Amino acid sequence: MIPFSRHNISQNDVSSVIKVLKSNYLTKGYQVPKFEKKLSQITKSKYVIACNSATSALHLACMALRLKKNDIVWTSTNTFAASSNCALNCGCKIDFIDIDKNTWNICVVELEKKLKIAAKKKKLPKALIPVHFGGQPTEQIKIKKLSKKYNFKIIEDASHSIGAEVNKEPVGSCKWSDLTIFSFHPVKIITTGEGGAVTTNNPMYAKTIRELRENGITNVNKSFRYKAYYPNYYEQVSAGYNYRMSDISAALGLSQLKRLKKFIHERNKIAKIYKNYFKNTSIKVQKILPNIKSSYHLFVIQFNKRKLKIRYKEIFSKFKKKGFVVNLHYKALHLNPLYRNMGFKLGQFPISENYSKSAISIPIFLGLKLKDIKKIITILKEIVEFKK
Ligand SMILES: Cc1ncc(COP(=O)(O)O)c(C=O)c1O
Repeated sequence: MIPFSRHNISQNDVSSVIKVLKSNYLTKGYQVPKFEKKLSQITKSKYVIACNSATSALHLACMALRLKKNDIVWTSTNTFAASSNCALNCGCKIDFIDIDKNTWNICVVELEKKLKIAAKKKKLPKALIPVHFGGQPTEQIKIKKLSKKYNFKIIEDASHSIGAEVNKEPVGSCKWSDLTIFSFHPVKIITTGEGGAVTTNNPMYAKTIRELRENGITNVNKSFRYKAYYPNYYEQVSAGYNYRMSDISAALGLSQLKRLKKFIHERNKIAKIYKNYFKNTSIKVQKILPNIKSSYHLFVIQFNKRKLKIRYKEIFSKFKKKGFVVNLHYKALHLNPLYRNMGFKLGQFPISENYSKSAISIPIFLGLKLKDIKKIITILKEIVEFKK
């Protein structure tokens, strides 16, 4: 079966991992700091803290901002559970912003409208978590301006977009945000098996995150309150977690980072081929804004429902029969039982809800063959009228 996205492991990746497996340190060794340093160079951010997932990285970012019970946090409706769970797990109240009908990222016009209303009601969010959907960075310059006006912090959920750029600025630089999160799950641009990272330019956030990642423990001499009276002396300063990345994962990540440009180049090349096929057809592709380089974690197409020859749910089995796994990214988050129980309703975020019933992600990854792309187009021609 050909999936919507997958990892690509080279012989060098395998050798790097084996080297660590044969070394003295499978964790807390030299690979994680090296991986963090490399990520810091690539993203031009001052501090990088590698974690065992983007989910844990998001949680740590929320805690670094000291988000607490009843603080309000907003995110996109078009995202994975983790973008919201991180705030819920700090006791926050979550709310959503609908997506733009063309970029499928949060709609900045909607964001501004909602902020104006929230300001009047004195219910402004403490933090916003914009999600770089499919690999396209959100409109950070505009969002940053709004954050200054309405005084909220920004955590970019860039789980999809390592290697992407805004005005040639790498995602992760935090030029227009407080913190950025990456995911290195195997379907993402590069992988560490499971893994994630936080980037920031704020030393206090970095310190807090590093401590919380290590069960709330510090072993930095100058941070000690009391005298270090034995060689491996440490102090616990908070109730943290074990959100560490292993050295095995970091070695894979370091090796994968060497091919980051290649991964991005290949994904963009495949996106260009698809876009040529869909030009002037009834199939809509993600609009990429000027001065943006997408990492194309996903290649999503949206159908004009009137042009579909079969029902939406039948599309998935049609592809499966021909050996392809296509998927929906994402069912609007507020439609899940968790959020319905909180009072969110159908009809509240119409763009996202309509998208949820008319979009699919088709395969895109390094190694996808042109003959398979052609097969995908043939299947699409069977299920939808191409003509506008
Ligand atoms: C937008 C987004 N945020 C967060 C995550 C969580 O990533 P991880 O699986 O590394 O925890 C994902 C995972 O798919 C995601 O798509």
